[in-house]
Amino acid sequence: ASYKLLLLPGDGIGPEVMGEVTRLIDWVNTSGLATIETETDLVGGCAYDAHGESVSDATMKIALEADAVMLGAVGGPKWDGVPYDKRPEAGLLRLRKDLELFANLRPAICYPALADASSLKRELVDGLDIMIVRELTGGVYFGEPKEITDLGNGQKRAVDTQVYETYEIVRIAAVAFELARKRGNLVHSAEKRNVMKTGVLWNEVVTQVHKDRYSDVKLEHILADNCAMQLVRAPKQFDVIVTDNLFGDVLSDEAAMATGSLGMLPSASLGAEDERGRRKALYEPVHGSAPDIAGKGAANPIATIASFAMALRYSFDLGEAADRIEKAIADVLDQGLRTGDIKQDGCKTVGTREMGDAIIASLKSA
Ligand code: NAI
Ligand code: MG
Repeated sequence: ASYKLLLLPGDGIGPEVMGEVTRLIDWVNTSGLATIETETDLVGGCAYDAHGESVSDATMKIALEADAVMLGAVGGPKWDGVPYDKRPEAGLLRLRKDLELFANLRPAICYPALADASSLKRELVDGLDIMIVRELTGGVYFGEPKEITDLGNGQKRAVDTQVYETYEIVRIAAVAFELARKRGNLVHSAEKRNVMKTGVLWNEVVTQVHKDRYSDVKLEHILADNCAMQLVRAPKQFDVIVTDNLFGDVLSDEAAMATGSLGMLPSASLGAEDERGRRKALYEPVHGSAPDIAGKGAANPIATIASFAMALRYSFDLGEAADRIEKAIADVLDQGLRTGDIKQDGCKTVGTREMGDAIIASLKSA
């Protein structure tokens, strides 16, 4: 099979970590697993410098036609002064919006070799592998009215509005159940039906989708605050957690801390299925452009490499190749290689390139 992948390295350490992904693409192509055709373009501050816009219409057109998009990171102090709608992050927001990416997938995986770097005790996180599915385009971040009014007596009144409609909950629930079928077959749906109408509807709709299409998957409903507690008390009880935009923002950051480092965390954002059953998709590390270490060859490429593995699994039907890459990541960590962000006594500190070299060597020797 042949796939089109758009690479948007972006700013700061983005091009450095994306450089290691291009070497993995060569590995996929030369080992005959598939043909991945790439195009590389600008997003973020570098696009603003070149075109006066953080993502150009021409780039958007390529993104819309691609089978998947990979992004490094955007932003940095250099662009602090640029107008709000042209700032580097605006390019990322436009990509998410125009590709209609409503499902944000945030895995929290704790590699055994890094279990001591977790904020939680080793026995709680060793071997942890959970997936948080966050609704990304609705909810309280976007609902109207959204305003601050001056009440005139030295008081102000701020309003945010949480709105969800049935179709938004149906499609995010379907993503979660489909993922669970390929994983541990368990979904926890987190909301606050005890105090929120959107929680009542969320609970009803998820229950219905489960009954109609996914009754083979085990479904548990959990109140979002209890979910937050359980994530630090016994995170391994979870497989897939599906939740709204706000709770998902908080719970995914909480789960991230169980895993050790920002430099290790991949993500995927998926859109609706097209006629061919393909979803638009954007894959990116959770971390930013890390201006403090940019240009030094010191960045950890694992978050971006793991994001590429997600692209292989969810956009390219290459789940086995994805498994092999994840195994290679675990191997090099077991060998004791560490970038600066996950530095550990008794381990060897390496740079971006050496980490990429070791992952490729492990893949080729497997
Ligand atoms: P950051 O994630 O860039 O960095 C936070 C800390 O983690 C820094 O000390 C950095 O050196 C370290 N770090 C991050 N990724 C690493 C990696 N792969 N390897 C080793 N160390 C790593 O977040 P920060 O500092 O808040 O933001 C810096 C810039 O990035 C800002 O302009 C911000 O707007 C942008 N940003 C962009 C994001 C994106 O492109 N999706 C997400 C978050 C921030
Ligand atoms: Mg957050």
